[in-house]
Amino acid sequence: MSSSRSEFHFNGILFPSFMNPKWIPEIPDYPVSPEDLYVVAYPKSGMMWTLQIVSLIKTGGAPKQKHNLETIPWIEVIGKEIAHALPPPHTFMCHLPYHMMPGRDPAHSSAKYIYITRNPKDVVVSYYHHMKHTHHLTFTLGWDAYFESFIKGDVFYGSWFDHILEWWKQKDADNILFMKYEDMKKDLPGSIKRISQFMGYSLEESAIDTIAKQCTIESMRADPLGNPDEYPAFKAAVDKNTSFLRKGIVGDWKNHFSDEQSSRFDAEYAKRMAGSGLDFI
Ligand code: A3P
Repeated sequence: MSSSRSEFHFNGILFPSFMNPKWIPEIPDYPVSPEDLYVVAYPKSGMMWTLQIVSLIKTGGAPKQKHNLETIPWIEVIGKEIAHALPPPHTFMCHLPYHMMPGRDPAHSSAKYIYITRNPKDVVVSYYHHMKHTHHLTFTLGWDAYFESFIKGDVFYGSWFDHILEWWKQKDADNILFMKYEDMKKDLPGSIKRISQFMGYSLEESAIDTIAKQCTIESMRADPLGNPDEYPAFKAAVDKNTSFLRKGIVGDWKNHFSDEQSSRFDAEYAKRMAGSGLDFI
């Protein structure tokens, strides 16, 4: 990826210029407490969707008072002072690799973590569109070049393979819930139920249905407190005619990958993910 002056690396991972290079190294030392819930994902894996689900589980499906992005702050961008001053219970969103999380070792911490993952072929397509339309990021690459950067892990938050493998090693920890974007698409009410039970809620089926109706991509587009485009900092960052809620489908990679790219990606996946039990491809 072409680097502008203010993008920076920490632990070999590339971070965008709107983050503070002094803050990222401090995050592993942030305290973790039993009421904390982290929603974690590699970028473009369904984070905003999961924030909508989590926010509505908390209200039992009733209307929210604030935007999801206000009640679930992004830990990488708020900094220590704000993170420490927020009254518990905390729910944070973050894209960090496992070893850079507050407390350094989520599986052995007292907090809970929801990790969302998605077929990386759809992730790279979604990421490419995001990069193209987010004007505070310096981005001049075409699709083919971005595809190469993604395979090399030379993108923000580093290699998808490293990210997922490090988290996936902890899949048996009771305090980490793994969710797949594709499963959420297949069975939204069932996914909401799983997430709510993990969060310690026991919701009636009617509440689950009410929440599910508000979590489709169409409903989120119409929800000023759930649509990321309506959050001022996000709105300011993207081109007017695009949306954080782009297509929201499974398999859009087929409209972007050449046959050669698809075979190469599959081979890389087989090499990197062998024995992991993660069967996206
Ligand atoms: P596409 O770009 O493939 O459409 P993140 O929130 O982690 O940045 O992920 C963004 C991706 O999640 C985008 O994918 C977006 O459209 C999709 N998404 C957001 N809300 C969704 C929903 N309610 N249902 C399905 N997909 C959703």
